[in-house]
Amino acid sequence: MIILQIIILVVLVLIIFWQACLIFVSIQGAPTVYAWDDAILDTIQLAKPKAGEILLDLGCGNAKSLIMASKKFGVKGVGVEISPYCYLKSKWNVLASGESKNIKIILGDLAKAKKDIKKADIIYLYLLNQVLEKIEPMLFKTIKNDCRVVSLAFKFKDKKPEQISSTKNLGIKTSNFLYKK
Ligand SMILES: C[S@@+](CC[C@H](N)C(=O)[O-])C[C@H]1O[C@@H](n2cnc3c(N)ncnc32)[C@H](O)[C@@H]1O
Repeated sequence: MIILQIIILVVLVLIIFWQACLIFVSIQGAPTVYAWDDAILDTIQLAKPKAGEILLDLGCGNAKSLIMASKKFGVKGVGVEISPYCYLKSKWNVLASGESKNIKIILGDLAKAKKDIKKADIIYLYLLNQVLEKIEPMLFKTIKNDCRVVSLAFKFKDKKPEQISSTKNLGIKTSNFLYKK
């Protein structure tokens, strides 16, 4: 009986932790919605990734972008994630994928990830227009001259994209954008 009560308590605590993380990230910026695999790959492909380059996913969710890009293009992945739930999920997914030596996950706010933004060759974003607007000045001031920034579905307010392409995400036809400094 006691064991059953402990199991119920642990499950309740986990559900509360998960829900609290979802509410927290929605307040912080972009909600936790995972993009479709093909939409992620279509978007990253806009940057023409080369083996050994550093791909940064700001708000990496479940780290799928980093895992797929590491396997397909041989890039090194860095993910920044503010939700403790998504951070743990990303760490677990990376471990399970066997790509641990190639991918690093950081718990933190993407707006404060200047050190990693500076080093990135490619930055992949699936956020919201209002989040992109907020980070736009800092991001384009901080990136390297040859860094490519790709965004799925959402665009920056002032910066003009170098290329616009189309893809399908969550069952809906959408656009993806390539930006340079
Ligand atoms: C729309 S999801 C994208 C997930 C993944 N990149 C993908 O393409 O499927 C946005 C992610 O950004 C995270 N996020 C929201 N605000 C953030 C912030 N200020 N700093 C870091 N991550 C944040 C959320 O927790 C969520 O996992």
